[in-house]
Amino acid sequence: MPAATATVSHVFTKEELCLMEKVPASCGIVIFGASGDLTHRKLLPALLTLSLENLLPKDFYILGVARSPMSDEQFQATVAESLKSLGMTKIQQDFAKHCFYLFGDYQDPQTYEKLRQRMGDLDAQYQTSCRRLFYLATPQVLYQGIVTQLGKMGFADSRQPEGWVRLVVEKPFGSSLSTAEALHSSIRRVFRERQIYRIDHYLGKETVQNILMFRFANAIYDPVWNNKYIDHVQITAAESAGVEHRAGYYEQAGALRDMFQNHLFQLLSLIAMEPPASMVADAVRDEKSKVMASLMFPRDRDWEDQVVRGQYEAGAIDDEVVVGYRQEPGVKQDSGTETFAALKVEIDNWRWHGVPFYLRSGKRLATRVTDIAVVFKHVPASIFRPLMAEQMSPNILHFRIQPNEGIFLRFEAKHPGPKLCMSSVTMQFDYEESFGIRPPEAYARLFHDVMIGDQTLFSREDWLELSWKFLDPILENPVDLSDYPAGSWGPKEADDIITRDGRQWQITSSS
Ligand code: NDP
Ligand code: BG6
Repeated sequence: MPAATATVSHVFTKEELCLMEKVPASCGIVIFGASGDLTHRKLLPALLTLSLENLLPKDFYILGVARSPMSDEQFQATVAESLKSLGMTKIQQDFAKHCFYLFGDYQDPQTYEKLRQRMGDLDAQYQTSCRRLFYLATPQVLYQGIVTQLGKMGFADSRQPEGWVRLVVEKPFGSSLSTAEALHSSIRRVFRERQIYRIDHYLGKETVQNILMFRFANAIYDPVWNNKYIDHVQITAAESAGVEHRAGYYEQAGALRDMFQNHLFQLLSLIAMEPPASMVADAVRDEKSKVMASLMFPRDRDWEDQVVRGQYEAGAIDDEVVVGYRQEPGVKQDSGTETFAALKVEIDNWRWHGVPFYLRSGKRLATRVTDIAVVFKHVPASIFRPLMAEQMSPNILHFRIQPNEGIFLRFEAKHPGPKLCMSSVTMQFDYEESFGIRPPEAYARLFHDVMIGDQTLFSREDWLELSWKFLDPILENPVDLSDYPAGSWGPKEADDIITRDGRQWQITSSS
């Protein structure tokens, strides 16, 4: 039998691949909730960033939809105001001119009739061939109603052969398994899975995407990436900010829904997944889902030892006195919402069996840092006696997601001096120093991916359902809430969860 041959028309160099950033084809972007915080603080600046990098099509329009009455000109003025901090050059001014506004009630069919007419005109003006992106940036309770109306009015299918219709859904995606399932089915009644882009902005962060490059574009790490060499993994997402103006949402959510179900579990999935067959969206997402399906609490242990919930009290951050969570505007005086949580979990598969993953996240902590620490085992025996193996610091690989983005490896080195002087030193890759730029905004990358039709960095339905399935019992049987002063590293119980196992958090004020 003749050997199978693969035809490769052109092998791209790394440099060529890097330049292959595609400029998307002309399209229209409709943002529901366009008068809101997310639109003005994140979405519009992200689109402007793409425009500045020549990654927006020449012909595009942004049509904001919301209830607040506003003319196109008034909306353009709010857009200009939101983009002020990015400068007001000709590009910014031109960008604002591509923005339009439609006001109406999200439930009212008339709004969608007006939308149809408005988009028809704009599609013709900008020659979009009916390539349309709908972005849900309203409070979550409105999503089902908006999607149903879009379906009824026939917005889910493009009328032109080269057209497409894509739906972007902001988090939170449900608040439990059953609400997520209900949301999925109402969206799936109207849109097909390949049209749906569920945002987790953490996946748009360069440093998060770099986890895959680090693991699978280098040969030396995979042989040690398992329970033979890794002792445990820590994931910390600490914020010094409080609940700010989002109490209305946060009171219903809390740290477990707000940060764990999405961002922290995504980081966990990327660190723990098997090599995917390729970078094709479903190949990557298949492997991430397998991680979520294998997630469990360590066996034979008290559930209360594996979960911590905390809430911040008054304290000080950077010498500034701040109020406690219950004194924040819009928060109930007897609120039981957690602003901090820590979990100890395991992944029950061949690679990770017996390796604990400690996760923690909270608001009003000592500093803002997101870090994954992969802590390796001690050397098996010491040749440096009387120094024992356990006295030597284990190797730790840090993925610093933000700020000071980079990757650091801690290892033991000979300290100048007598024979047995040993010190821990760090080998460091600093993103900004290496590439000469700050990592780009996550939302810009994600918007671009939607426009070019790449779903790799978006959550798939099964992954989301598995994450809720894991979290539901924790939410339904909440452990007691512990207080912590603002500006600390969370409640004492968060230290206990790890020190009980003879380990310690690697990210502290001094690190
Ligand atoms: P907002 O609360 O600012 O709401 C967005 C817009 O929706 C408002 O401008 C308002 O517009 C409309 N709206 C608000 N409440 C209602 C209501 N009860 N009934 C009808 N319309 C309402 O939300 P954000 O912009 O902060 O967030 C949008 C979505 O993105 C949410 O799902 C949020 O969870 C998610 N998200 C937000 C983040 C952020 O940093 N802000 C981060 C991550 C996710 P109008 O009254 O003009 O119609
Ligand atoms: C959002 C949460 O998804 O992520 C916020 O709703 C949180 O509560 C934010 O502050 C953190 O994102 P980042 O990119 O600032 O780390």
